[in-house]
Amino acid sequence: MPTSPARIVLLPGDGIGPEVAHEARLALEMLAPGVQIEERLIGGAAIRATGTPLPDETRNACLASVAVLKGPIGDPEFDAADVRPEQGLLALRGALDAYANLRPAVADGIDVLIVRELVGGLYFGASGVRDDGTAFDTCEYTPAQVERVVRRAFRLAQSRRGHLTSVDKANVLETSRLWRRTVDAVAPDYPDVRVEHMLVDNAAMQLATNPDQFDVLVTENMFGDILSDLAAAVTGGLGLAPSASLSDGGPGIFEPVHGSAPDIAGRGVANPTAMLRSTALLLEHGLGLLDEARRLSAAVEAALTTAPTPDVGGSATTAQLGAAVRANLDGVVAAAYGG
Ligand code: NAD
Ligand code: IPM
Ligand code: MN
Repeated sequence: MPTSPARIVLLPGDGIGPEVAHEARLALEMLAPGVQIEERLIGGAAIRATGTPLPDETRNACLASVAVLKGPIGDPEFDAADVRPEQGLLALRGALDAYANLRPAVADGIDVLIVRELVGGLYFGASGVRDDGTAFDTCEYTPAQVERVVRRAFRLAQSRRGHLTSVDKANVLETSRLWRRTVDAVAPDYPDVRVEHMLVDNAAMQLATNPDQFDVLVTENMFGDILSDLAAAVTGGLGLAPSASLSDGGPGIFEPVHGSAPDIAGRGVANPTAMLRSTALLLEHGLGLLDEARRLSAAVEAALTTAPTPDVGGSATTAQLGAAVRANLDGVVAAAYGG
């Protein structure tokens, strides 16, 4: 019996999402021709079509897939609405239990991997508005929720330069003191990793002024959201920053750190690099195709010098940068097969 092809769900998203997702799809088709790519709706596009930001159809397709490749969601049209695109993204992360969000930021002399807890904290706690108008969001973490992401970060540090910075606000927050206790409790299991605690305000300052001191940085959901935009900014910008959101064995979500960029959407000038690098992370972590992942990364790297988009100081369009990547892949793929 022939085995059925691996299925990837592609969620183009909103704003520049479909523009960068198109380039990612073409690269993925070249590098993993046996993979079946299914497109589904999420975010604002899904609300318009179905009334909900994560239709059951999309959720079920993602749950049944090998990995999810996702463009950014979000549209100012829904900013004041009760049903919002972002709710679909959080629901998807929760449904897949994609708790370990890897956000690498690399540039000359800087190589930091932010490991952001992705399915807990303020984003998933009780929230609401009381009758008197008071609004509240609740930050809760269970010990198990902290331990699994912290252990993941320790293992990643072992595979890199053996330095882990745990970022919290333990001088104020109870959840941060749990975080710090948990890091200290599991640290003896990783004697080859040097651990350091850092308060989040200082961590922001250190990332901005002295980012080369970091190897792996692990932190809770909201702090990781903010620090990862900052890390992207100091390593070339949001247009370059990919991410991988991993569970324990289930399908991961691979998506750029950036959003739907409504300010440039529809103009064809968005940088597809973050989306293409997320595709490389999918090839590596989702499909186990390490060689193909490396080829894509190298092709993107080279294309950035010949066809840079405006955000990185060039004048190429999204399509031109995408085409340059594929031209590089053609050469590299041909060379790899002796062509
Ligand atoms: P944003 O990341 O969309 O944009 C911030 C700035 O970076 C803008 O000036 C934008 O033009 C620029 N930028 C972002 N990506 C770029 C790219 N690939 N190429 C060139 N320039 C790029 O952040 P925002 O404007 O605060 O948010 C817009 C929407 O995106 C909101 O609805 C937000 O909720 C959503 N969002 C979604 C995700 C996601 O789906 N993972 C992530 C972040 C924000
Ligand atoms: C990100 C985004 C999301 C987050 C939003 C859109 C919910 O900012 O992926 O960084 O805050 O996690
Ligand atoms: Mn963010």
